[in-house]
Amino acid sequence: MPAAVLVGAQWGDEGKGKATDLLGGDVDYVVRYQGGNNAGHTVVIGDQKYALHLLPTGILSPHVIPVIGNGVVIDPGVLLEEIDTLAARGISAERLLISADAHLIMPHHKAIDKVTERFLGQNKIGTTGRGIGPAYGDKVYRIGVRVQDLLDPGILAKKIEAALVEKNQVLTKIYNRRGIESEKVLEEYLAYAERLKPYIADTSLVLSQALDEGKFVLLEGGQGTLLDLDHGTYPFVTSSSPTSGGACAGSGIPPNRLTKIIGILKAYTTRVGSGPFPTELTDEMGDWLRTTGGEYGVTTGRNRRCGWFDAVIARYATRINGITDFFLTKLDVLSGLEKIPVCVAYDVDGVRHDEIPMTQTDFHHAKPIYEEFPGWQEDISGAKSLDDLPPNARAYVRTLEEMSGAPISAIGVGPGRDQTLVVRPLV
Ligand code: IMP
Repeated sequence: MPAAVLVGAQWGDEGKGKATDLLGGDVDYVVRYQGGNNAGHTVVIGDQKYALHLLPTGILSPHVIPVIGNGVVIDPGVLLEEIDTLAARGISAERLLISADAHLIMPHHKAIDKVTERFLGQNKIGTTGRGIGPAYGDKVYRIGVRVQDLLDPGILAKKIEAALVEKNQVLTKIYNRRGIESEKVLEEYLAYAERLKPYIADTSLVLSQALDEGKFVLLEGGQGTLLDLDHGTYPFVTSSSPTSGGACAGSGIPPNRLTKIIGILKAYTTRVGSGPFPTELTDEMGDWLRTTGGEYGVTTGRNRRCGWFDAVIARYATRINGITDFFLTKLDVLSGLEKIPVCVAYDVDGVRHDEIPMTQTDFHHAKPIYEEFPGWQEDISGAKSLDDLPPNARAYVRTLEEMSGAPISAIGVGPGRDQTLVVRPLV
């Protein structure tokens, strides 16, 4: 039975929460497969706004089982706070399942994330400072602490001690910071263990059985394609794999069970943190997009960098992820513009590139080649179907679809649950 992936087609913040929520009625399981509390999903239900960082969006639908997969890095304090905040608003996290194989973000990861960014100075990545990179680094280095270690206090103590022997040397001798006391960390994490125990599960087995029983599993990516560790704008990327391949590795669901890959695409482009962004607008137009689109980070509150739609990137996302459908978000933000430029290719030192250049050096030099399309003046936020859109808005959507290489099956015209035009069923 179907397992569908939702993946950001740009640099994250495309509005994935809204797409997950739209599918909520049909879905039995929603799985986060990578990232951590660097992500931020905003879901608006009626007059209530929910900002989720670590919990899968499925937490908001009572019939859905939310799953945190093995590919996620978990800050247990943040997770429990998120669970408690939702509980205070009447939303229970009782159904939540957490993979025993997921890794934990430890206090030294957060300390090292902040201090290394400061050391990089102008070359900093612009991370969210949540310890994501150092936690994944330790996973690869095979000294990470996993969720299952919370079930064995002896092992937990040994792992914390072993990690801090090295990390404290780094913190004190290289970065001139105070060391971290292993006893205190152990005490803190044992307290988390007590509360998290009921949620810990063999999630890959649970999901496999669910698929066998004909249940519908939705895999929810954080960040976006261009922030992928392998396929993004390295080193200005996150430390995990948001792309559809990462969905399999981060959940334990094999590739041949994925039936739909849904790319979330904003009608313009945004990016947070450092790194190349060819269509970025650093003028008043960029400020207008930021204000009109409310482009401020859910997790960090940082201003997002804003620019025009980049069809080269959308095409790349189609190719890397195998996108079967796009969900185009925030089309309403562009209402009122006379003309809307779309980047169709790049000029790199006088040479036209129809694809993302092979090297980062060339990508840093890429200048957008624009085609302009006529805008529309009407407010489209009340549109209920494609036919309700003004002709120029419809033409803009058609153009993006042709350039991106996959059908646009849903269109967001506002933040609300009911502000989505469904062109064809997504699943
Ligand atoms: P990290 O994931 O905190 O290590 O940050 C690495 C890069 O990914 C930085 O440029 C962040 O701004 C960016 N990033 C991480 N999470 C998100 C997200 O959810 N949306 C957009 N950018 C993100």
